Amino acid sequence: MRTQVAIVGAGPAGLLLSHLLDRAGVESVIVETRSREYVEARIRAGILEQSTVDLLRAAGLGERLDREGDVHRGIHLQWPGHRHHVDFVDLVGRTVTVYGQTEVTKDLGRARDAAGQQIVYEVADTAVHDIETDRPYVTFIGPDGRPDRLDADVVVGCDGSFGPCRRAMPDPSVWERVYPYSWLGILADVAPSTDELIYAWHPDGFALHSMRSSTVSRLYLQVPAGTEVETWSDDRIWEALATRLGHGENGWTLTPGPITEKSVLPMRSFVQEPLRHGRLFLAGDAAHIVPPTGAKGLNLAVADVALLAPALAALLRDKNPELADAYSDTALRRVWRCTHFSWWMTTMLHTSADPFDTQLQLSQLRWVAASTAGATGLAENYAGLPFGY
Ligand code: DHB
Repeated sequence: MRTQVAIVGAGPAGLLLSHLLDRAGVESVIVETRSREYVEARIRAGILEQSTVDLLRAAGLGERLDREGDVHRGIHLQWPGHRHHVDFVDLVGRTVTVYGQTEVTKDLGRARDAAGQQIVYEVADTAVHDIETDRPYVTFIGPDGRPDRLDADVVVGCDGSFGPCRRAMPDPSVWERVYPYSWLGILADVAPSTDELIYAWHPDGFALHSMRSSTVSRLYLQVPAGTEVETWSDDRIWEALATRLGHGENGWTLTPGPITEKSVLPMRSFVQEPLRHGRLFLAGDAAHIVPPTGAKGLNLAVADVALLAPALAALLRDKNPELADAYSDTALRRVWRCTHFSWWMTTMLHTSADPFDTQLQLSQLRWVAASTAGATGLAENYAGLPFGY
């Protein structure tokens, strides 16, 4: 097979890249180790920044998003005895939209089907070659068990942090932070007990009340790293959520319901630089992971691709390398901004054993709630900076 852009990975980054390239007249083929069903069902975050929504809309992907997405003005920030609404619209004039990554992936899949995009699912042993030449290629074992080869002008790794592309980069710089806690996340068939998300600091640990629709709630609990999901019964989960989210305080109640999914997410951060070597580019989780607090992962992947698609179009169509040469440095500015924001939200809200840290956290929360300057910093980062920041 031969194409202009070989994309490794059919998650949101790879699918959106192929979509934007297609609209710019550039052809691509995607290879993916998982099945389509797996990719479309894997549960991830569900908060889209304003610029993500704007980009999806402009790319013709906004129809169901506009119909089913739930626009939120802000979030509730909570600690015992206090619940404070941070209003992004008042502070920075931007909103966020609740719309699951699963739905974004399905919309992208349908749009790619309609365009006749070639995607090879269930490949194995993917490897990239000759990235320092103008004729890089990808090898893999196809779904029929036969070795195959995809020749291209450019290869893009959208294959996550465990994929082969980032390992194909010679001498990268890698920064990493592993947190001593994880999130226990649940999906439940119950109407959310809140209009907008609640981020709650509590001495027992952080809790988050999020949602997917008017009938499906998504909630998280801070648990120690290494926690086995089986040690948390449904009753124990709802009890801990009720305590940490303040059930019964100021007339607020948490309504429990049947849990349909339960998993433990490790919390870590990493950034690998640069995002380009020769004809290999990285986008999304292949180059950076953020802890989930603040829901930046998907939005960062979209921001990478929003820069990369026009850069590759200029390189391959117009033979202009300027944007492609600038891609790594430009994308990394936003990556580090979001890495800092995710670290800041994480360390402000997750309890640690250190009583000095506890006092700093509470002071920080009081400052964000009481100061327009403090709240604006949170709002600007949460609702998302413009692309190209
Ligand atoms: C969700 C996840 C997050 O990490 C977050 O900060 C907010 C919401 C979610 O899955 O809904």
